[in-house]
Amino acid sequence: MKVLVIHGPNLNLLGKRETKIYGKKSLDMINKDIRTLASELGTDVKTIQLNSEGEIVDVIQKSDYDALIINPAAYTHTSIAIRDAIAAVDKPTIEVHLSNISKREEFRKKSFITDVVAGQISGFGPDSYLLALRAAKNILSKPKGVRS
Ligand code: DQA
Repeated sequence: MKVLVIHGPNLNLLGKRETKIYGKKSLDMINKDIRTLASELGTDVKTIQLNSEGEIVDVIQKSDYDALIINPAAYTHTSIAIRDAIAAVDKPTIEVHLSNISKREEFRKKSFITDVVAGQISGFGPDSYLLALRAAKNILSKPKGVRS
């Protein structure tokens, strides 16, 4: 079971960026926690951070994975290209946000991604990624025909 985790733009600044909203954990620390849980779950995981939309689309299209966990960051609210890539590839995908995007500014309440993914996990800080990894593992454990 190969899970790919994509962190979108500005998430390389985690730990320094708007810490009241995003917390003090750096992306390296979050990735370490993801790898630790993946090994407990017996899942192969790869993490990548990208700032540009086209690169995210390329990685969604070209990488070898069974399930995708993606925090599209600001592109959540703007990118039809990332949405279309997720729909085209049609692999189990979980949308993740550290903050609860429904509780924030109006422009963050709209996600172009939500209706092409299995589900969205939002508002649990770095734990959002760990919950998503457990969800991905559960989805992949089911036969393809009965996955939601
Ligand atoms: C975010 C929420 C987005 O609105 C924002 O642009 C981000 C991070 C989150 O993880 O809470 O960069 O995706």
